[in-house]
Amino acid sequence: MPKLTKKMVKELNAQLGRELSAANQYLAMAIYLDDRSLKELANFFYAQSDEERQHAMKFLHYLLQANEKPIVPEVPKPVDDFESIEQIAAMGLEQEQEVTRCIHALVDLALKERDHTTNHFLQWFVEEQLEEEAAFSELLDVVRQTENLLLVEQYVFRQKPSGDAGA
Ligand SMILES: [Fe+2]
Ligand SMILES: [Fe+2]
Repeated sequence: MPKLTKKMVKELNAQLGRELSAANQYLAMAIYLDDRSLKELANFFYAQSDEERQHAMKFLHYLLQANEKPIVPEVPKPVDDFESIEQIAAMGLEQEQEVTRCIHALVDLALKERDHTTNHFLQWFVEEQLEEEAAFSELLDVVRQTENLLLVEQYVFRQKPSGDAGA
């Protein structure tokens, strides 16, 4: 593959960092929910956290493949105190929308640099962000429409892929 530009390496590393921060933020949310015995919501956030770590690994492996050095960044301490489940769902959606903006900015850079390999690599994330935003947007809708957290738990349970007994 063609050599990545310095700017591209820097930006891909920055995204690696953002995926790791997202993983930690979802972990902090999962702990808050687990502590309140909202097991289905907690499992949803644990799973999201795992996914974000996998996203970080994709960037890490891509950089290695390009013979560049991935840098494990310092990540900011996640928010770990929340006022409500609605706040958590809204923060999750905002976080995903922010990641989408960053992925799109990376695609813009790849197109500007005529870096077709990186553009192709990033398309997986463009698609993934569609699903991520939809999942959080639906969760937020459901949380806003029901006072009963056990019904929210039921909704989250039903969203699980069939055959997945959860963690
Ligand atoms: Fe991600
Ligand atoms: Fe995500």
